[in-house]
Amino acid sequence: MFSRITGTGSYLPEKILTNQDLEKLVETSDEWIRSRTGITQRHIASENQSASDLALNASQKAMEAAGVTSKDIDLIIVATTTPDMVFPSTACILQDKLGVENCPAFDVQAVCSGFVYALATADMFVSSGKCRNALVVGSEIYSKILDWNDRTTCVLFGDGAGAVVLSQSEEPGILSSHLHASGSYRDVLSVPGNISGGAIQGNPYINMDGGTVFKFAVKVLEDVVHEAVEKNNMQTSDIDWLIPHQANIRIIRSTAQKLGIPLDKVVVTVDKHGNTSAASIPLALDLAVRDRRIHKDQLVMLEGVGGGFTWGAVLLRW
Ligand code: UT7
Repeated sequence: MFSRITGTGSYLPEKILTNQDLEKLVETSDEWIRSRTGITQRHIASENQSASDLALNASQKAMEAAGVTSKDIDLIIVATTTPDMVFPSTACILQDKLGVENCPAFDVQAVCSGFVYALATADMFVSSGKCRNALVVGSEIYSKILDWNDRTTCVLFGDGAGAVVLSQSEEPGILSSHLHASGSYRDVLSVPGNISGGAIQGNPYINMDGGTVFKFAVKVLEDVVHEAVEKNNMQTSDIDWLIPHQANIRIIRSTAQKLGIPLDKVVVTVDKHGNTSAASIPLALDLAVRDRRIHKDQLVMLEGVGGGFTWGAVLLRW
């Protein structure tokens, strides 16, 4: 028994915030943002939208593409760092909004690696025969945890959601997954605040040492691809599509170059979406599936890195 992605979907909030808009908020420039990150715009959720709302839109499209209804879904995993509330999980809220009855539903918190973690987890349920159709979602509203006066972080992130249906299959889809974490780096990229005694304690906004994240990301994004191809007795030249976490075009280019993968085999969305954390990989995957870049039997590598640090990859045959 194998697991295979049978449908993808995504959702981006209507409101677009351009670099020019940001020039009016903080001391920055379109030139600085584009040259340092590759980002030109990002989508921003409305005040009344929550992560489960974005997830609902993306999930409905993925389910439609997979040809399944709420009756067919028997597992829901949502990767998010910006849940609707402390509890219940965004996955439980999504389950109710979708009208899915009585299946396991839980969130995965692995920041920007969240979707890779969630997909690897769903694969274990589906390929072991415990579930038939898992809904796996990455949904984020980073605009809620950004300090809009901090130019070093507020220009980098955006909101959005991506989803896949992972179904039982007789042919291999997911070939292997590779997950890592190193909590000793937890202070490098964090939202350190928490709620206690009815009040926010500590800083509730993103706090980041960008340079350290950059260097770490380039290293582990290269290492984990080698780990995945070696496990499957393949080579990086066998990869048809690399879909990396979309944080910075310079990280993406540098990773591709080190791996010897030409840029035209890399799906890039960071220019239009910014960094949407756990949503970035399924958003990019959905885009490349819907514009027919990805074809049946092609080899696709998904990889992410984020706060924790966490990092990981999923190698799959489309
Ligand atoms: O999903 C994982 C999450 N995070 C990441 O992936 C982030 C990884 N890191 C990065 O993408 C890059 O390190 C950044 C884009 C955050 C920063 O790029 P950099 O080339 O490492 O720039 P820097 O931090 O070395 O800053 C260079 C200068 C500084 O000024 P001084 O000290 O040289 O005078 C910053 O104060 O640029 C300044 N700066 C800005 N200037 C205009 C920082 N942010 C801005 C800004 N606009 N928005």
